[in-house]
Amino acid sequence: MDPENSPKKQSLIETRGCRDVSFLDLCSIDQVTKKDLVLIYDIARKFREYKTYKINFNKGNSLVNAFFESSTRTMASFDLSAKQLSMDTTAVGSNCSIKKGESYIDTIQTVDAMNVKVIIIRTKESGVPEMLARHTSASIINAGDGWHEHPTQALLDGLTMLDYFNSTNLKGRTVTIVGDIMHSRVFGSLVRLLKKLDATVRVAAPETMIPKHANKFGVNLYYNVEEAIRGADIVYALRVQKERGANGFIPSLREYSKMFGISRARLDLAKKNAILMHPGPITRDIDVHSALSVVDKQSHILQQVENGASVRKALLWLIGNRYDGKVKSYKKI
Ligand code: MLT
Repeated sequence: MDPENSPKKQSLIETRGCRDVSFLDLCSIDQVTKKDLVLIYDIARKFREYKTYKINFNKGNSLVNAFFESSTRTMASFDLSAKQLSMDTTAVGSNCSIKKGESYIDTIQTVDAMNVKVIIIRTKESGVPEMLARHTSASIINAGDGWHEHPTQALLDGLTMLDYFNSTNLKGRTVTIVGDIMHSRVFGSLVRLLKKLDATVRVAAPETMIPKHANKFGVNLYYNVEEAIRGADIVYALRVQKERGANGFIPSLREYSKMFGISRARLDLAKKNAILMHPGPITRDIDVHSALSVVDKQSHILQQVENGASVRKALLWLIGNRYDGKVKSYKKI
């Protein structure tokens, strides 16, 4: 534990400067203002510089990871971030009483009754975190709800892009998102964030994997991946979401890989300094060819993971420890 008033602690406090985020729960990128983004990223950059530095900012607060779907990156980074802020953490998930027929709301209100500060929720259904957020005192953070959104993934992706281009926005930058758009909550949050950052967004996928509502985000649709990647600044690959029945939307994974998988030749169509991103987990040689996945110098996939830890630490400090004293009010049902 760092001593009181150490230079690192002081510099974090100065960076924050008594600022608060505008939201008490985080269910969608729609809740995040441009001002929030600046604040989250200012602090995340400091935490990234200090790596696993442990600080007592959230001491006495508890965090529960309620993951009803599998996770590696998101759950581990929320848990480590909370611990590095001196929070107590525990997990409920695949083995909890939901298996015995308890509803999400009863399970989460049970956890809430233990006076926890933050509950991180991942479900296979869309809309669950938003519904639960209206019935808890604890702040709810959506860690991925079905096909809908995964806001902290988009936040870490935004930081990765902005820092690579050393900019405060993505004006004039083209981001090509390739893959299973239809079933991707990563897409749902990323496209909202990219629009806030003024990026030009191209989407490339088999026609059956592009939902009708994709157009409402003002993206350019492509069924030919080469055309979509040509001249792009960022190539963002998505996994085929087999667990959501995605295999039924393509002839086979082999054909998908042949038509849409990111290969050396395809990545070379992007700008010379373009970067390759992916939220993970990668299905090697299906969505991204193995040689590119993490070792290629254009791949920023592990940088995304590192930024994920920093962004989540910033969020937990901001949500769990407010200067304005705002608290949630809710009605028991
Ligand atoms: C998620 O949405 O859980 C992941 O971050 C992305 C994926 O599973 O493909």
